[in-house]
Amino acid sequence: MERVNCEAVLPQVMKQIKHGAFLTALSGDDMNTMTIGWASLGFIWGKRILTVAVRPVRYTFGIIERAADFTMSVPLDGMDKELAFCGTNSGKNGDKLKKCGLEVLPALKVRTPIIQVPGIHYECRIVYKSVMDPENLDEDYKNLYQQKDYHTLYYGEIVECYSYWDYPLKHAVRHKIRGF
Ligand SMILES: Cc1cc2nc3c(=O)[nH]c(=O)nc-3n(C[C@H](O)[C@H](O)[C@H](O)COP(=O)(O)O)c2cc1C
Repeated sequence: MERVNCEAVLPQVMKQIKHGAFLTALSGDDMNTMTIGWASLGFIWGKRILTVAVRPVRYTFGIIERAADFTMSVPLDGMDKELAFCGTNSGKNGDKLKKCGLEVLPALKVRTPIIQVPGIHYECRIVYKSVMDPENLDEDYKNLYQQKDYHTLYYGEIVECYSYWDYPLKHAVRHKIRGF
C-alpha cells in the first residue's frame, strides 16, 4: 500500500472508471460491492470529493443509505470478468465477492473495506447526498431513466487515496488457469 497523489493518478483512474470500478458500502454487518461506471472526482467545499451514483433498485442502495462511508477500488490490472460479475449480479442473491473469488482488506480510515485488487483505492466519508429530481434533468438525459429509477448521488470526502498492487496468489492462479 502506498499513498498516492489523487490528481497524479487521475488519467489512469478516469480511463478505467468508464469500464468499471468496485463500489463497496458497509452498514452494521451488511456489506456489498457493485460495479460502477459513473463517478466524478473533483473539488467541492474546498475538499477532494468523489461522487458516485446509485439507483434505488440496487441492493447496495439499501446499505449505502445507512452507511457513513464508502470505498471505491479502481482495478488497473485486469479484473474485467469480476467487474462484469459484480455489475450483473445482485448481492441480494448471495455473497458476490465469494462467488468471484475476491477478498476485502480493512481500510485505513473508514469502516468500509476495500476490495483486494491491484489498483487505486479511495476511502470516502459521506458528507452529502442528493436524490435526483427529474424536474431538474435535461430532456436529453431522460431516456436514461425509463423506469423512473433516478440515481441518488453520494458525495464522499476522500480521506485516503492509495495504490495497492499485491495480487493474491490464488487469484493469480484462477486467472491464469480458468480465466476467471
Ligand atoms: C460497467 C458497469 C457500470 C455500472 N455502473 C453503475 C452505476 O454507476 N450506478 C448504478 O447504480 N449501477 C451501475 N451498474 C449496475 C450495477 O453494478 C448492477 O445493477 C449490480 O448488479 C448491482 O448490484 P447490487 O444489486 O448487488 O447492488 C453498472 C454495471 C456495469 C456492468
